[in-house]
Amino acid sequence: MLEGGTPLIPSASIGPSLPGSIRLHLKYEGLNPTGSFKDRGMVVAVAKALEEGAEATICASTGNTSAAASAYSARAGMASIVLVPHGHIALGKLAQAVRHGAKVVCVDGNFDECLRLVREIVSKRRIALVNSLNPYRMDGQKSAAFEVCDALGEAPTYHALPVGNAGNVTACWWGYCHYRELGMIPVQPRMLGFQAAGAAPLVHGAPVAEPETRATAIRIGNPARWRDAMRAINESRGLISAVSEDEIHSAYARLAAEEGVFVEPASAASVAGVIRLAENGYFGDDEVTVVCTLTGHGLKDPDYALEQETDLTPTEADADTILDKAGLETSAKPVLHS
Ligand code: F0G
Repeated sequence: MLEGGTPLIPSASIGPSLPGSIRLHLKYEGLNPTGSFKDRGMVVAVAKALEEGAEATICASTGNTSAAASAYSARAGMASIVLVPHGHIALGKLAQAVRHGAKVVCVDGNFDECLRLVREIVSKRRIALVNSLNPYRMDGQKSAAFEVCDALGEAPTYHALPVGNAGNVTACWWGYCHYRELGMIPVQPRMLGFQAAGAAPLVHGAPVAEPETRATAIRIGNPARWRDAMRAINESRGLISAVSEDEIHSAYARLAAEEGVFVEPASAASVAGVIRLAENGYFGDDEVTVVCTLTGHGLKDPDYALEQETDLTPTEADADTILDKAGLETSAKPVLHS
């Protein structure tokens, strides 16, 4: 469905506001067919499942994987089963899985429990697991790193991502390594991973039994790609860090209000982390290029978007009342066009 090929948007406001000499770029993965980076790997995983004669696809998901798995399975004419944590999946994602015809199972448990169940089920049946444990998913997701290098003409100095099940930061690093082996780039970037403070097992070095964050996409306590992700971060001389709910919210709000780029809360974790590092002087004074992956579209989570101080009460259908409400003077001014 023409997944990938997403824009690398130069930051117009957040980047220039940071101390130091940072060229900030936003890799807007929300513009993939189902609205998240998952499509890059899912197209490969579902094609392989079909080729291998699987009777269905299955995944555990905080939402986006289920949206992608159900869409690509629908297109391949395959059945799909998705296990999601009851009450902790954003509305847009649930709507997608339902409309794409997946068997949606809302499990009374968190993502980690859903993934454990999925692993048990695939050990018993000829059903293809399409979580990021699936190697084809990882291969597809490498393409984001290729595109970043193609767009910049070189690798960035740093690449920042939100981390949940830890597949994307790993795949991205593998992509850069692959490009280096091919001689396409002389050096790889440093990988920066950011988890939500209430769901930060990689930061603590221990699983979190009850992960909590409003950024439901990354509400994960025991990531499947733990070891691979830590290897990627260490080999690249990058870092893993936690960002607070307030930092995520502030970056989320700034992306929408200052950049015109609407993302879901988890996606803002990469930008939140880069803002904090820049303010702490982490990037130094030299010119650096920083890419933040914005993993999913803002329309995925309308509840989160509309929660804050928004006046949506009805207004009288009168032009002066509306101008007044918009905070503009009602006195006559020359018109722009009639
Ligand atoms: N951002 C978004 C919007 C996500 O949906 C996810 C993962 C991540 C970041 C983290 O990526 O897991 O590769 O470290 N969502 C998965 C899902 C877990 O089920 O949709 P990761």
